[in-house]
Amino acid sequence: MKIIKSSPLLAMLLGLIIIAAAISTISVEGRKHHVKRIKPKHRRHSKDTPAGSPAPAPYPSTHDGVFNILAFGAKGDGVSDDSKALVGAWKAACKVAGGKVEIPAGKEFMVKAVTLQGPCNENTVVQIEGTLVAPAKIGSWSKSSLFQWLNFKWVSHVTIQGSGTLDARGSNWWNLDNYQTQKRNKYIPPMKPTALRFYSSGNVTVRDISIMNSPLCHLKFDDSDGVKVNNITISSPENSPNTDGIHLQNTRNVEIQHSNIACGDDCVSIQTGSSNVHIHHISCGPGHGISIGSLGKDKTVACVSDIIVEDISIQNTLAGVRIKTWQGGLGVVKNLTFSNIQVTDVQVPIVIDQYYCDKSKCKNQTSAVSISDVKYNNIVGSFTAQPVRIACSNNVPCMNVDLMDIRLRPSGGIRGLQTHQQQHALCWNSYGKTQGPLVPSSIGYCLKKSNIDGYYPKRFIASSQEKLCSS
Ligand SMILES: *[C@@H]1O[C@H](CO)[C@@H](O)[C@H](O)[C@H]1NC(C)=O
Ligand SMILES: *[C@@H]1O[C@H](CO)[C@@H](O)[C@H](O)[C@H]1NC(C)=O
Ligand SMILES: *[C@@H]1O[C@H](CO)[C@@H](O)[C@H](O)[C@H]1NC(C)=O
Ligand SMILES: *[C@@H]1O[C@H](CO)[C@@H](O)[C@H](O)[C@H]1NC(C)=O
Repeated sequence: MKIIKSSPLLAMLLGLIIIAAAISTISVEGRKHHVKRIKPKHRRHSKDTPAGSPAPAPYPSTHDGVFNILAFGAKGDGVSDDSKALVGAWKAACKVAGGKVEIPAGKEFMVKAVTLQGPCNENTVVQIEGTLVAPAKIGSWSKSSLFQWLNFKWVSHVTIQGSGTLDARGSNWWNLDNYQTQKRNKYIPPMKPTALRFYSSGNVTVRDISIMNSPLCHLKFDDSDGVKVNNITISSPENSPNTDGIHLQNTRNVEIQHSNIACGDDCVSIQTGSSNVHIHHISCGPGHGISIGSLGKDKTVACVSDIIVEDISIQNTLAGVRIKTWQGGLGVVKNLTFSNIQVTDVQVPIVIDQYYCDKSKCKNQTSAVSISDVKYNNIVGSFTAQPVRIACSNNVPCMNVDLMDIRLRPSGGIRGLQTHQQQHALCWNSYGKTQGPLVPSSIGYCLKKSNIDGYYPKRFIASSQEKLCSS
């Protein structure tokens, strides 16, 4: 004080230094801003920000086209709600060609149910290296967004990749009654969310990531066209109910490969409207195996065609490869090939069940989804309940069901099976051909041969049902 008072010249000098410092700070910030090519959408008015402090960049991009969610305010502490940061980074990445959302390694981001919506510029990537976790408490899920946790909607040419994990923390959902009693919760949600869903999307790829502990299905594609799934891991406990691995509905042109799926329900579930699906080099189990259906519930029309499942291994599952339809349904399932399948301790490796029913008894009905052109080739390994169970509709027989090179042995040896029947293949109202080797030999005389009379009802039904699926 004394100095300044006694020397006005020195005070002026000090003032000049301060001003010069302020100017240089501003110009450094200015240069930083200049480097960014993406224009901020909502430019802050300078009057909102105190003079001298830099205006926050609405689209922080670490380098060109990469949008790290930390730069969008994510905390990554596993507790704070990072949903807004994820949506923010997505919106920014979506706007530029080749934009990439980065979820960095070594951090856990808690994200609530969000929709990441397109259409985007082109080739958007979501790089997941860290972990995304869903809210732990059921009560923190918004009642209006119980369909899914992470929802990609109307996107095309989008890739989700990285060595990170999506943990949907579903354990509380698996036994809601228990949850309600223990936590004295009154609120029981009317539905359970799927973990990762692509809705009405095209040309999407999901690779390398892990998806675990979904309340319901882990990865679902519906109303989509062009799907590639490669090198992913799906896991939830064997006793977690309805936790399908991958669910396809109204989705065409799909390839699922080199992945591991262990869950409480179907490893892959293929529903109506799905066609041209190629599944290969995957490992399934525990769970319920690969399922076409269930189809035709409540007299609905089902259409599934052109499915190849090959070079896979299935262990510790309820079924191996299964087609299940409800009585009373309509439509067509056709052109399916199951080949080179290794089964280990699978209850029933080959199943067609046209009497599917989730209660103890369902009403017998005459109509059925028609099933034809199903090839089983080189299905080898061990079963625990029955080798083959093909139960087709009384009125609509299964046609061209071919069993070739099937070798299935009881896991614990013949003595491990309780009844004589369990050792044998069962076929009901199913036509096709067989070709050896066949073990057990009962597979050889299980199907009816295709060249006998009595096809009129089938032909009639098949062509009328075909029309239901051709539009
Ligand atoms: C998927 O990609 C192919 C080839 O690039 C293109 O022809 C097709 O229109 C795309 N489909 C969708 C739904 O984006
Ligand atoms: C499969 O994904 C893992 C990360 O989960 C990665 O380290 C590995 O390189 C991927 N393998 C292939 C063949 O892409
Ligand atoms: C059966 O499906 C396969 C695989 O999608 C396809 O390549 C083939 O053309 C189909 N066959 C018929 C007769 O439609
Ligand atoms: C339905 O049909 C099956 C086979 O013909 C028969 O065993 C069963 O008793 C019938 N069920 C009912 C509920 O009528």
